[in-house]
Amino acid sequence: MTMSILFVGGGNMASALVGGLLAHGQPREEIAVVEVNISVARDFHARWGVTTVSAIPENLEGISTLVLAVKPQQIPGVLHGCPALSDTVRVISIAAGVTTQQLSQGLRGHGNIVRAMPNTPALVRAGVTGLFAREGVSQEDRDHATALMHAVGSVHWLDQEAQMDALTAISGSGPAYVFLLMEALQRAAESQGFDAHTAQALVEETVRGAALLACSGHEDPGVLRQRVTSPGGTTAAAVRVLEEGQWFSLVGQAVAAATQRSRELAQVDGGAAK
Ligand SMILES: NC(=O)c1ccc[n+]([C@@H]2O[C@H](COP(=O)([O-])OP(=O)(O)OC[C@H]3O[C@@H](n4cnc5c(N)ncnc54)[C@H](OP(=O)(O)O)[C@@H]3O)[C@@H](O)[C@H]2O)c1
Repeated sequence: MTMSILFVGGGNMASALVGGLLAHGQPREEIAVVEVNISVARDFHARWGVTTVSAIPENLEGISTLVLAVKPQQIPGVLHGCPALSDTVRVISIAAGVTTQQLSQGLRGHGNIVRAMPNTPALVRAGVTGLFAREGVSQEDRDHATALMHAVGSVHWLDQEAQMDALTAISGSGPAYVFLLMEALQRAAESQGFDAHTAQALVEETVRGAALLACSGHEDPGVLRQRVTSPGGTTAAAVRVLEEGQWFSLVGQAVAAATQRSRELAQVDGGAAK
């Protein structure tokens, strides 16, 4: 699948995507990056060997895909400086909270737009990306977006753009919930007498093993959890404490709060993109 891709923004996410694309066999010479920060551009080129430039070229002939990978508040400036795009140019934006409607307006009515929401495990090519396309984006263009984001992990298409807020709360913020659990477990391990190094190793290996088991596809997490929870046993003692602390309700409230915050930020940051 040939894509001549121009990334705008050469930060963490663009680096993860370019690394993933190269690993998937995308030729280096088919990728270029616009990066305003000279030292970031130099590092990007040194790391991945792709061409970097300091501004969006006036002539985008030969570019089939434009990936917007700057911070949401930098999107209006990028859209303003972008030349008129032909319908065939696929725009893929990973900017959190900036809607396809806002992107289209900023690009003077351009319609070939896909919005993507990856998460930080993309940095180790184990990300989850939610994708949403405006009406009228062809199946071929959707497939290109799938292929591009697949370079850093799995991909899930959303039917409605509003679902991006809930997706942000689950997979976008989700790694932080897991890290929070790891932090708490590590503290608890240390308070039970383990040194910090051992506590960290125990927690990391437990989380890795549990995630692999849960993702092996054979059983639901609930079944796996019941299997290690013998009546009157050690796990049952711990689970009782978590349930008394309203574990499920607390997690549900946390996700609802993140979804609501995503909606609010879309109005503030996304509004700036209009
Ligand atoms: N990191 C994540 O986990 C994650 C997850 C989901 C979505 N996202 C989205 O991905 C996007 C990029 O995130 P990131 O973490 O990669 O950000 P980042 O590291 O800040 O990268 C953005 C880069 O673009 C540069 N830049 C700013 N304005 C520019 C312009 N007009 N033209 C070209 N380059 C420009 C920035 O330079 P300066 O620093 O000098 O401004 C910076 O080096 C954001 O919109 C974010 O919402 C990120």
